[in-house]
Amino acid sequence: MKLCNRLQNLKPSATIVMSSKARELKAQGKDIISLSLGEPDFETPDFIKEAAIQAIKDNYNHYTPVPGFVALREAIAEKFKRDNGLDYSIDQIVVSTGAKQSIYNVMQSLVDEGDEVILPTPYWVSYADIVTLANGKVVEIKTGIEQDFKMTPAQLENAITDKTKVLLYSSPCNPSGSVYSKSELAALVEVIKRYPDLVVISDEIYEHITYEDKITSLASFPEIYNQVVTVNGLSKAFAMTGWRIGYLGANHLIAKGCATLQGQVTSGANAIAQRAAITALKADPSEIQYMVDAFKERRDMVMDIIQDIRGFTVHKPKGAFYIFPDVSDLFGKTLNGVLINNADDLAFYLLEHAHVATVSGVSFGSPNCLRISYAASVENLKEAFKRIKEAINNG
Ligand SMILES: Cc1ncc(COP(=O)(O)O)c(C=O)c1O
Repeated sequence: MKLCNRLQNLKPSATIVMSSKARELKAQGKDIISLSLGEPDFETPDFIKEAAIQAIKDNYNHYTPVPGFVALREAIAEKFKRDNGLDYSIDQIVVSTGAKQSIYNVMQSLVDEGDEVILPTPYWVSYADIVTLANGKVVEIKTGIEQDFKMTPAQLENAITDKTKVLLYSSPCNPSGSVYSKSELAALVEVIKRYPDLVVISDEIYEHITYEDKITSLASFPEIYNQVVTVNGLSKAFAMTGWRIGYLGANHLIAKGCATLQGQVTSGANAIAQRAAITALKADPSEIQYMVDAFKERRDMVMDIIQDIRGFTVHKPKGAFYIFPDVSDLFGKTLNGVLINNADDLAFYLLEHAHVATVSGVSFGSPNCLRISYAASVENLKEAFKRIKEAINNG
């Protein structure tokens, strides 16, 4: 018996590998602080939970329309207009089991064997595997800390070939926390509009978790509106990772493709979670500001502490809840007898010696970096960074 070739090429998610290793050490009685996972440490707000309880009482027990309840798609259309200045009609919107499935659906709908999908590094771990599952070929655009982890228009232009189907990026970015400004996007639009068959997936799931300006949605540039798929979801902003609701807005062709695919795979997202999502999306974004304020406070605190860690070069993340230091100055050095050749070695060294779980940048396409999540309590963050500092500066 053997699994199919498609699965042979799939790697287990690096974040999951790290968290299971951390769990193993915890089970042995080690006091591990986990800064490896990508989810808010808050609970879902009560007003959203109440809406779900009400939905159960109201007997939302049956299959929903495949692309999502009409009332939810109306709420999403209003949200797109209110927060992003985007016009999507409800038949351009597809609700799925998380933004991850939305991205998967688009890739399966568009990519044929050998088609190229451009991923600027660093990218969210699952992007590359979602491309692989569609038999596509990943083409990386390398960006480093010196360019704030953002692709330039020239890099994009150079990466496009006659096989390019899709460009996929997130802003705010997981893992770098970088956010493209309106003018940076405008410069990229100048390239994108010259390739009308190129589809750009703009993953805006961290939209509300920004610390300076509001984000600009790529689809708000009218000249490329038709080429852009806007992906978003409830997981991060509303602390609803386990509810599994994501959604996209796209042109009619792509939206229809995603709905057709989904109709044969899941039949649609969970009915109770969809009802709760209506309440969440209709709420004023100020309802969730307390979480964003807390993340900002932690970001500022972590930025202060991290400056004192030897060999860590940092940039200031403007969104999401990760810090992404370049740690390549430590490569080739020995810490407490352990030779650090790369970011994987450093992540394992920190787990073993500082009992702090982080994630190596290797599977994000940035092997010089380490992703550290600050979606954790201030107390845990202080202790974790104290331990990291000791393990490196005194190692
Ligand atoms: C950039 C990015 N996009 C999408 C997702 C998936 O979110 P969801 O929980 O809605 O599937 C994540 C989750 O970590 C993410 O970081």
